[in-house]
Amino acid sequence: MVNDPLIAAALAVRENAHAPFSKFKVGAAIEDDAGRTYTGCNVENASYGLTCCAERVAVFKAISEGARRFVRVAIVADTEMLTPPCGACRQILWEFCGDVELVLANLHDRSETMRLGTLIPRAFDASFL
Ligand code: THU
Repeated sequence: MVNDPLIAAALAVRENAHAPFSKFKVGAAIEDDAGRTYTGCNVENASYGLTCCAERVAVFKAISEGARRFVRVAIVADTEMLTPPCGACRQILWEFCGDVELVLANLHDRSETMRLGTLIPRAFDASFL
């Protein structure tokens, strides 16, 4: 039983993952400053490089719904060692969520909380442009 609603949302949307090639299902959920939740799962493609990770689907859904300020991100996968966001997703999350609180969780009630900044030190962003 998951008692963090953001983890629960990521766990639930993970079921929708389209991962026929890797069989590796991921769910992500993002909470905005108004308490709304936006979710995403990974969506793979037969042309593998076109695959979009769960985190980016969630971010793009949130942005396209008009959300702009985010307070927390949850990522769920079925791994003993908690699955962190890939490099591309770290960059996208940094762009839209900044040094947000990140919760990694698995299917067995294990979770760990960290700041995104610890996973993407010295990040490139618009401040350099
Ligand atoms: N994947 C994600 O959705 N998020 C991550 O942070 C890591 C990887 C997906 C992409 C692909 O569909 C599958 O997991 C295997 O890499």
